[in-house]
Amino acid sequence: MNEQISQRLALAERVAREAGAKALDYFNRRESLVIETKRDAQDVVSIADREVELLIRGQIALGFPDDGFLGEEFGLQPGGSGYNWVVDPIDGTSPFVNGMPNWCVSIAVIYQGEPVIGVIMAPCQQECFVAAQGAGATLNGKALHVDPARTLQNHITGFGANSYVAPERVGEIAAEITAVGGNFFRNGSGAMMLAWVAAGRLVGYYEPYMHAWDCLAGYCLVNEAGGWTHPFNAQGEQLLRGAPVLAVAPGAKDELMRIARL
Ligand code: IPD
Ligand code: CA
Ligand code: CA
Ligand code: CA
Repeated sequence: MNEQISQRLALAERVAREAGAKALDYFNRRESLVIETKRDAQDVVSIADREVELLIRGQIALGFPDDGFLGEEFGLQPGGSGYNWVVDPIDGTSPFVNGMPNWCVSIAVIYQGEPVIGVIMAPCQQECFVAAQGAGATLNGKALHVDPARTLQNHITGFGANSYVAPERVGEIAAEITAVGGNFFRNGSGAMMLAWVAAGRLVGYYEPYMHAWDCLAGYCLVNEAGGWTHPFNAQGEQLLRGAPVLAVAPGAKDELMRIARL
């Protein structure tokens, strides 16, 4: 790992833990949060999402003032170093505001459009998933590897959806996974489910449309754990556009790609 990446990795992990603690503090007193909606009534946000993103932005600006920063809540701040931080302060806001533990802080660093660092911190489980390009993936310091013997038939497939892109596909995807003898799963946090693919808890994950901040940290984890990820174009303007997201253990790649129609 080069020096540029190892310095950023140390900060990414420290900030993810700090941000996770702040989010957990809000979670523990969530009854007092005002829940606002964005696109529709399922797309929720609160001060917790914004304050956690501001914490992360502030720390990154202090540590690497020339790096770019893209976050879900406050958008893109371009930089000049070639490194961009891509952050979802709380992935799984719906579980978060409804008192379920399936949410996480997701921090990626990209270079030339490729995720070179991925950190996913899940505070309720006290699980910190960390990966850096070429250096492997870990969970709380223990190496992660996907199992090449796993298939849709002998494991569980995660999938997600939103109400604004291809909602009609949701039923079809669930039906097709079931029809081939598989089992589907959704916990409300796509980033966490991607980390679970890296950890071998799920054989794969598919969602018809996600943003860069939802998936790039998870992509780095899955790649470093020996899985395969469908290309997500994060170069230039494309960084702001969403795309299909698919991450999978090698033995299930062809079948999940077919179901996803990719
Ligand atoms: C959402 C979650 C959800 C996925 C959505 C995402 P948010 O992110 O990851 O599981 O299905 O597409 O937008 O809004 O909770 O950060
Ligand atoms: Ca959101
Ligand atoms: Ca998200
Ligand atoms: Ca979010």
